[in-house]
Amino acid sequence: MASVTLAGINKRFDDVHVVHDLDLAVDDGELVVLVGPSGCGKSTTLRMVAGLEGITSGELRIGDRVVNDLSPRDRDIAMVFQSYALYPHMTVYENMAFGLRIRKMAASEIDSRVQEAAKLLGLSDLLQRRPKALSGGQRQRVAMGRAVVREPAVFLFDEPLSNLDAKLRVAMRLEVARLHKRLGATIMYVTHDQVEAMTLADRIAVMSLGVLQQCASPDEVYRRPTNTFVATFIGSPAMNLFPVTSTTAADGQVTMVGRGIQMTWTSGAEQAMPGELTVGVRPQDLQVVAESDADLHLRVDVLEPLGAETFVYGALEGGADGATGQRDAATQERCASPFIVRLPPDQSVRSGDLLHLKLALPHFFDTQGERLSQFDD
Ligand SMILES: Nc1ncnc2c1ncn2[C@@H]1O[C@H](COP(=O)(O)OP(=O)(O)OP(=O)(O)O)[C@@H](O)[C@H]1O
Ligand SMILES: [Mg+2]
Repeated sequence: MASVTLAGINKRFDDVHVVHDLDLAVDDGELVVLVGPSGCGKSTTLRMVAGLEGITSGELRIGDRVVNDLSPRDRDIAMVFQSYALYPHMTVYENMAFGLRIRKMAASEIDSRVQEAAKLLGLSDLLQRRPKALSGGQRQRVAMGRAVVREPAVFLFDEPLSNLDAKLRVAMRLEVARLHKRLGATIMYVTHDQVEAMTLADRIAVMSLGVLQQCASPDEVYRRPTNTFVATFIGSPAMNLFPVTSTTAADGQVTMVGRGIQMTWTSGAEQAMPGELTVGVRPQDLQVVAESDADLHLRVDVLEPLGAETFVYGALEGGADGATGQRDAATQERCASPFIVRLPPDQSVRSGDLLHLKLALPHFFDTQGERLSQFDD
């Protein structure tokens, strides 16, 4: 196993700048998950690490070896894609052995690796089957088996589970976690699935438009998102954002007002809060209270009863408009999304109601969308 270090990596396709100054260090044995919207450069990044795509500038190291100019087969890397074409005319055993045969490995060594990988992936009883006689999940495991037998320094996974149905995904997610634990493997893993990202990752790297926004533990990314992009990208349903104007009193009490908002906050920080800021709150950190205790007032539009919980969508309403300061366009747009509250299913709410809400665990961002971490608890 080995570490992977991307230092100042850029990728351009002609005049399209797809990956910008990417610095990312994956430790030996670490599983880093890359997430971000479609087209943000996740696959391109993996393909550069694999050597399937050239690097425009910057340095890529595997272990302490610079590999920018090394061909894919000399990088000691195995990649598993979403579409994992198996050879249909070969058995499971042959599919897994094939890559080792081309490398002219001794038959006895091939056999022991295939048997070992099959055991690890629960494929021992299926080695003589052909792919068409396997379920989707079993095929996916064979694709992983092909990577595992190589015993590479680094595994690269590009949405390996997205062809599977929901139930199989959960099963395979556990499989990947087990694989990571058993092999102590270094893994870079791309996914669209939030749950996959949160549950598998040692660290999550969040990308937007080819720029790394934050790379930290799932807990850190969730609890302290570095900006309004990460705040609304990680967590489902998304964090609510709303603009406020704040006034800090001599005793540190901060009053915040905005449309449908009148709240106070006791800041532990020495300095005053900026006059204009953006507040974030997750849907589950809101509670229905009496009007006199409320921080926010929400006019209910649509309800989504999901059994164990109900999502309530609406818009903040009442009071003066308050916040008028300029915010960056993206944050402004995020503030304009419907406001979402997660309520227990026994709470009786109807469309058209005005809900009075108290918030907990607020997140504070400046007008450019950057986290005001000095005001974290
Ligand atoms: N060969 C290419 N020539 C020009 N542009 C490309 C090429 N390959 C990728 N791109 C562009 O690079 C950007 C990043 O693509 P990439 O495939 O890395 O995105 P992604 O994050 O993996 O997205 P998805 O989640 O949809 O898989 C996209 O805008 C894409 O159109
Ligand atoms: Mg992709």
